[in-house]
Amino acid sequence: MHCTILGAPIQAGSGRMGCDMGPSALRTAGLASALTELGHTLTDLGTVTPAAFRTVTHGNAALKALPEITAWTEALTEAAYSASADAMPIFLGGDHSISAGTLAGIARRAADLGRPLFVLWLDAHPDFHTLDTTASGNLHGVPLAYASGQAGFEGYFPSLKAQVDPKRICALGIRSVDQAERLALGKAGVTVHDMRMIDEHGIAPLLRAFLERVGAENGMLHVSLDVDFLDPSIAPAVGTTVPGGATFREAHLVMEMLHDSGLVTSLDLVELNPFLDERGRTATLMVDLTASLMGRRIMDRPTRSY
Ligand code: ARG
Ligand code: MN
Ligand code: MN
Repeated sequence: MHCTILGAPIQAGSGRMGCDMGPSALRTAGLASALTELGHTLTDLGTVTPAAFRTVTHGNAALKALPEITAWTEALTEAAYSASADAMPIFLGGDHSISAGTLAGIARRAADLGRPLFVLWLDAHPDFHTLDTTASGNLHGVPLAYASGQAGFEGYFPSLKAQVDPKRICALGIRSVDQAERLALGKAGVTVHDMRMIDEHGIAPLLRAFLERVGAENGMLHVSLDVDFLDPSIAPAVGTTVPGGATFREAHLVMEMLHDSGLVTSLDLVELNPFLDERGRTATLMVDLTASLMGRRIMDRPTRSY
């Protein structure tokens, strides 16, 4: 597979500093060699440059860094669209606000190709706030709502050429949901597999059912991996740790199943805050999980088709 790597060092969406070092830490942890050792070819396109900032005012006084995030979203939408022309793009955040742009660009690519786009959102949080409902004002809490066409972004964020159908989104690992998000997710028809579901059924059957849907529709699949999907005990380098996250084995299993499905067409690695890391262990884990997604395995086994 040919991969493109794009750095999106945004931190303003998280309300604290450090995520701008994410792309650098992922590169330092050996992302490129992990991919090439698996036989993939790779073009590192470097760092995306945001569009010019515009002055914007919004009625929600809590909103932080709106001009900056919309400028990044504009640039990332274009970058994601171009980078997905003939390769699998891997977007290095940066906080999760990068996905406003990556999803918008990939959705446009999918529309061009006439294929349905599915999204697997691996996160403690659904990031399904609108500009009106976010109380923290941190815009890493809105990308999934924006990209799936929820109301309230018009006139602020770039208008979407194509949106993600909320019914084709599966959020997995969820354990911190604000009330406004809970209502909006239900209304939009997003599939949310929270930790209760994972504990009760196991992560594999939940993921398998989703992959079967993607395969049945010949869909493209965008995977968005937030560091806080993982349990804080194995992944401390994130500003929004939530206890009770995916274990090391659950996370690798998800990645291995994604690889075996052959369905993944793009990937976000987000929210890594190297300032909070311990001797690079979270960055290294994110690279190892990417390697599992791209074909690293313990023993050979037959590939499953969905
Ligand atoms: N729902 C909370 C908020 O809006 C947390 C969002 C966390 N998002 C993230 N990408 N880490 O502030
Ligand atoms: Mn997130
Ligand atoms: Mn999160």
